[in-house]
Amino acid sequence: MSATPQTPAPQGGIRRLTPSDIRARKGGTPVVCLTAYTTPMARLVDREADLILVGDSVGMVLHGMPSTLGVTMEMMILHGQAVARGVERAALVVDMPFGSYEETPAQAFRNAARIMAETGAQAVKLEGGLHMAETVAFLTARGIPVMGHVGLTPQSVNALGGYRVQGRGGDAARVRADAAALTQAGAFAVVLEKVPAALVDTITAEIAVPTIGIGASAGCDGQVLVIDDMLGLFGDFRPKFVRRYAELGESAAEAIARYAADVQARRFPAPEHVFASELPATGGSGKAAS
Ligand code: KIV
Repeated sequence: MSATPQTPAPQGGIRRLTPSDIRARKGGTPVVCLTAYTTPMARLVDREADLILVGDSVGMVLHGMPSTLGVTMEMMILHGQAVARGVERAALVVDMPFGSYEETPAQAFRNAARIMAETGAQAVKLEGGLHMAETVAFLTARGIPVMGHVGLTPQSVNALGGYRVQGRGGDAARVRADAAALTQAGAFAVVLEKVPAALVDTITAEIAVPTIGIGASAGCDGQVLVIDDMLGLFGDFRPKFVRRYAELGESAAEAIARYAADVQARRFPAPEHVFASELPATGGSGKAAS
C-alpha cells in the first residue's frame, strides 16, 4: 500500500471543492456530478462538474462485466488514481466495491482508508440504507466523508430481482427511512437511483443533505449520470433516465470504418505521415526535423 496520494496539488489558484462544499449546496444551485474512469475523461469532466464519481459502474462500462458484483478494490484504486490525475477542481468520490464494506464497520474503515490513501479521493460512496447507517457513522466519525446510495442499489441486483424502480406504493416508506438513516449517520449527500419522482421530492424536502438523482427527478439537489451513457458510447443501451448529449459511439464507428477503408486502399499513411530517410536541410533555422 502506497502512502502517497496520487492527487496532484491544484495549480494556478484553483480551489478544490470538498464534500463539505457539496453538503452546503443543499437547496442551492444543483450539484453537477458525472462518473469518470480515466485521466483524459476526468480532465474533460472536471471543467464542468462539481463532483466526480469513480463509480463501480466501471466494471460494466469499461471492463464488459455483466454486473458490478465482480469489481475489486484493486480496480477501484487503479481507476481512482487515474481519475485523480485529471482532477483539479471537482470533489472526488470513489465507490466502495461489493464485498469491501458490508461485513463490519471495521472492514469498511480498513478498505475506505485504503481507497482514500492510495487514490487521494476526498470521500467514498457505498450502497445501502438503514442497515449501513452504523457503518456510515463509524466512517464519518473517523474522518472519512461518505456519500450514501439508496433506491436501486445495483450491488444488490440479485436480492432486488433486477434493475427495477424502487419505492413504489408501500415500499416508499422503506426508501424514505433509508435516506433519513444515512443523513442521521453523517452522509454528506445521498444518491437516489431509480426512485419515483414524487418520492424523490418528498425525500429531498425531508433530508438535510443534498440528494443526487439518477433516474429520479429534477427536484433533486443534484444529478449524476454515467459518462459513457450520456455521451452515447453504447449503441443499443438507452435507459429511460439517460439523455444523450452526444453520439460518440456512432462517430467512433464511422471513424474506424474510414480508417479501415483507407488502410485497405493504401490511402493511409499519406506522404505527410511517413519519415524520409534523409534529414531535410534546416535552412539555417537550426530547428531539428522530426
Ligand atoms: O457506479 C456508479 O456509476 C454509480 C452511479 C450511477 C450513481 O453508482
